[in-house]
Amino acid sequence: MSIKAVTDTDILNRVGNTPLVRLESLSKNELEYYAKLEGHNPFGSVKDRAAYWMIKDAEEKGILKKGKSIIIEPTSGNTGIALTGIASLLGYKVEIVIPEKASSETKEIIKSLGAQIHETSDDLCPKVGSGTDQSIALATSIASNRPDTYYSPNQYANEANFKGHYFGTGPELWRQTEGKITHFFTGVGTGGTITGIGSFLKEKNSNIKIIGCQPQKDHLIQGWRNFEESAKPDLFLKREKLVDDWVSVTNAEAFGVVKEVFEKDRLLISPSSAAVYACMKKYPVEGKACVVGIFADDGRKFKSIYAQQNVMTESEFDEALDNAKHMSALAYL
Ligand SMILES: Cc1ncc(COP(=O)(O)O)c(C=O)c1O
Repeated sequence: MSIKAVTDTDILNRVGNTPLVRLESLSKNELEYYAKLEGHNPFGSVKDRAAYWMIKDAEEKGILKKGKSIIIEPTSGNTGIALTGIASLLGYKVEIVIPEKASSETKEIIKSLGAQIHETSDDLCPKVGSGTDQSIALATSIASNRPDTYYSPNQYANEANFKGHYFGTGPELWRQTEGKITHFFTGVGTGGTITGIGSFLKEKNSNIKIIGCQPQKDHLIQGWRNFEESAKPDLFLKREKLVDDWVSVTNAEAFGVVKEVFEKDRLLISPSSAAVYACMKKYPVEGKACVVGIFADDGRKFKSIYAQQNVMTESEFDEALDNAKHMSALAYL
């Protein structure tokens, strides 16, 4: 018997086509709730899509040169993991500028995938346009001094980030729900997810409600942005009108549902997935409906944060991890 080893191309081909699972804890009769488990992407989050599409786009435009180009990006975590994982498979080095508040697990994964890390004392999410953002300023200054070597995809304005969702996640959701989706929930970082999926779904059925989740000020939801403390990214601004409604969520509400979702649905979810779940739970929907939320990554990078926030002790976390359903068998985590 010969062993068929997994190739780099196999891993790259696994970006997207993530599972949609029913949330039994919220579903009742004809009112159904689903989670799109983006933790099943090869490097563990929704950001694999943006990273893959942005790198491929830069390759097609002749911007990247294998063995020479260095990709640099300010990110609070998942984009760093995704860019590093995908870029190294494709032959590029990566430098990541990251706020020190990002979880230690996230930073360790980025390092172990081979990126060089620059830490800044920023808030968790870079404040686009505020002039005080150190991670964006540092990445920009490193990249602009050596344009022949450095390339910053700039996920906050890069149309390829939008396209990954418009051509990928949106059609997947339409197919997986057999066109029955009525409400779509997600958090917003760059806006790629909400505008890409939202645009596709609205074209299919303009009655589908696109609902954005807003974290409290000074929040702990890695990857999200509160628009009172941080300007709206260009990518989001271009299509912000397609958002029908917003729901606010506090850190306490998000962390407060992590254990409940584990007990009822056997999912070990991340803080941002918990925040989406909390928003779905409190948003009034009646009658027959199909409500879908993006669970951008899974819980396994958040053991330290859950212990710090008294969500779960480290031993409770380990036990949950052993008993959780639908965790992907990730090659790199
Ligand atoms: C952890 C995390 N990162 C990123 C995103 C989406 O980011 P973006 O708006 O950049 O597509 C989400 C959305 O749910 C998220 O939960």
